[in-house]
Amino acid sequence: MDRIPTPLGPGAAKVLLLGGGELGKEVAIEAQRLGLEVVVVDRYDWAPAMHVAHRRYVVNMLDAGAVEAIVERENPVAVIPEIEAVNTEALERLEEKGYHIVPNARAVKTAMNRIELRRWAAEELGLPTTRYAFAETPEEAYEACEKVGYPCLIKPEMSSSGHGHVKVTEPSRWAVEKAYMESISHARGASRRVIVEEYVELETEYTVLAYRWLDGDKVRTDTMEPVEHWRYGEYHYIESWQPSTRPRDLLQRAREIALRVAEALGGVGVFGVELLQTRDGRLLFSEVAPRPHDTGLVTLASQDISEFQAHIRAAVGLPVPRPRILTPAASIAVYTDLEDEWYPVLSGAYQALIEQGIELRWFGKPRTYPGRRMAVVLARAETVEEAREKVRQAAKKLKIIPRNA
Ligand SMILES: Nc1ncnc2c1ncn2[C@@H]1O[C@H](COP(=O)(O)OP(=O)(O)OP(=O)(O)O)[C@@H](O)[C@H]1O
Ligand SMILES: [Mg+2]
Repeated sequence: MDRIPTPLGPGAAKVLLLGGGELGKEVAIEAQRLGLEVVVVDRYDWAPAMHVAHRRYVVNMLDAGAVEAIVERENPVAVIPEIEAVNTEALERLEEKGYHIVPNARAVKTAMNRIELRRWAAEELGLPTTRYAFAETPEEAYEACEKVGYPCLIKPEMSSSGHGHVKVTEPSRWAVEKAYMESISHARGASRRVIVEEYVELETEYTVLAYRWLDGDKVRTDTMEPVEHWRYGEYHYIESWQPSTRPRDLLQRAREIALRVAEALGGVGVFGVELLQTRDGRLLFSEVAPRPHDTGLVTLASQDISEFQAHIRAAVGLPVPRPRILTPAASIAVYTDLEDEWYPVLSGAYQALIEQGIELRWFGKPRTYPGRRMAVVLARAETVEEAREKVRQAAKKLKIIPRNA
């Protein structure tokens, strides 16, 4: 793309986001800055990205007909799936009709299915992963656990944000079958298939943000500086920072894995490649999100081109010359434990922002549930250690409270 038309005018270049969460909101803001026309679809009204969109639609994105009707009506230059729970058959059909799905329908489909993804990564690409086995019945789950060894982790074929991850420590048929039933009860869709993975002791975790963009008539693949992150025993991301101070040769290996994953998935855009570093010294491919990654929110503070700007640029055919780190930075996600509060309030913003180098993103989600991510705090400093300390202090000041409190 060399010419950007005027948004809302004739021939406007539209981008359509399927999913309008906090990551989509940052993508939408970058799209707005470039003067693109932004359309956001989500299953509930006033999802974060809708606050910064030209138009919005509220539909169930697992409904193929609804997704296809909206895309055909809007005729965007890029369709950007922002979450996993999107009907992939609709994406495939749209792609056949010539719509540009970012990065492509097959990549979205492979990445959302743990079984397909693991087969592909371990058996086709030959990447190092945890030991694993698949199962579809309680009996098979027991055999899979016996094969993989204990402790192990049972994960549904499809789910996100750690839903349905059940750790099995006890090598008994009864414990495994109970864990299997628990796991599939959290699956997206009706699948009874699971992956059983060896449970590894983590030294640390990385997200390597790989990106592919159109450089003339060739697609170029590169990676950003690895993001390191830690979950503090929770299933979701809490703290991430960049650049990592781990040995360069290790980080280089991480980048090479991410490069191969992005090249094999194809298309253009950002790919969040998740890697586990184990205490026994292994660097393992875990999974990939063919889109910006939550741990990559830190790039809003650290890089000259954030993962969100890189994604939108690549999606519409603009260049993404290698993003540079401008400063060490850290991020902390803020979760709520409030049950079903409408229009909650973020308190402590003044105190959180009073230190130099802090930024805040209050996503604007209209309703709470326990464990919902509501905001993120970013800090810049001279070193990552300083940035991490600063961001922790700032995050401590914040509290999500009911609006009448
Ligand atoms: N085999 C394993 N052994 C030990 N810890 C693991 C293993 N697999 C996953 N984890 C931990 O659980 C986290 C979430 O796992 P995973 O990425 O598979 O789930 P997810 O549902 O995709 O979550 P998210 O959407 O947050 O990425 C990992 O980042 C890691 O901290
Ligand atoms: Mg993950």
